[in-house]
Amino acid sequence: MAIGQVGATELDVSPDEWSELLHDILQRTRYDFRNYSIRLIKRVLSRQLRIYQFADLACLRSAVCANMETMNKLTAGFMVHVTEMFRNPATFRYIRHRIVPELGHLPFIRIWIVGCATGEEAYSFAIMLYEAGLLERSRIYATDIALDVLAEARRGCLTRSKFERFESNYRLAGGEREPGEYVERDGENGYFRAELRRRITFSVHDLTADVQFQDFDLICCRNVMIYFNEELKNKTHRLLLSSLRASGFLVLGDKETVKFSDVETHYIHLDQQAKIFRKVESKGGCGYERHPESGQGSECASG
Ligand SMILES: C[S@@+](CC[C@H](N)C(=O)[O-])C[C@H]1O[C@@H](n2cnc3c(N)ncnc32)[C@H](O)[C@@H]1O
Repeated sequence: MAIGQVGATELDVSPDEWSELLHDILQRTRYDFRNYSIRLIKRVLSRQLRIYQFADLACLRSAVCANMETMNKLTAGFMVHVTEMFRNPATFRYIRHRIVPELGHLPFIRIWIVGCATGEEAYSFAIMLYEAGLLERSRIYATDIALDVLAEARRGCLTRSKFERFESNYRLAGGEREPGEYVERDGENGYFRAELRRRITFSVHDLTADVQFQDFDLICCRNVMIYFNEELKNKTHRLLLSSLRASGFLVLGDKETVKFSDVETHYIHLDQQAKIFRKVESKGGCGYERHPESGQGSECASG
């Protein structure tokens, strides 16, 4: 086979052939991509073969095992960090008008943003809670598997193009203030104000590991499970269910649902357009033991 031929077309190899490579990745890094979707695995591996002009997966495997930089480039491909402020504004509009007022009845509000990437969802929630006068009694935990995006999330930096997107999505999501109020300008870029940042804790959390938290009032896990196979989707669903308090809210991405999953009967679907679900009642026992240190989710706060 000519060099680069595999990567130039759709990857046509069996799962057995890439499972060894995924196993090597797990051994050499902390990342376990073995239960990511076949579509993503094929896409990432095809791309790497094309970029490096490797003849086949065996060559790619030798290269990543010999060179950590090549390994890091490969693992980065599995983590798609696309996000934006008030992404899918209709969902945020629903949350602003229907969910935030309900959260307002609670003495303290605990929110978990799962797979937060560069943090835009966390800042979007912080802004809505601030406008409802609830931010001071809220804590937003925002987690991701990738360290580099978490560092960016903590900086809270908005480039000009990100800010423009923020402005238009904010309005579509029912925002009525000036988005510029939330950002301090520094040259071309802006940075989210300290009042917002103070209520958000960014830390590492990997959904392929079994660590769960407890008693969240709302969990937002959007556009993360689309990259998982059915087994890991179900495992994630069980973990999220265990981490939500009774009557808590689950927000998923537009292409995601609890339907056909192990936890389907534990939720009611609140809105057909926005993928927002409410935990019906605590039925207990969904296969997760409480993590010994998780307590009230305090280890979430240590990142
Ligand atoms: C497409 S982004 C979604 C960002 C945001 N939730 C949104 O919808 O705009 C997916 C994020 O999931 C993260 N991710 C992938 N695998 C993960 C895992 N096993 N545990 C936690 N986060 C993961 C990626 O690093 C990435 O930042």
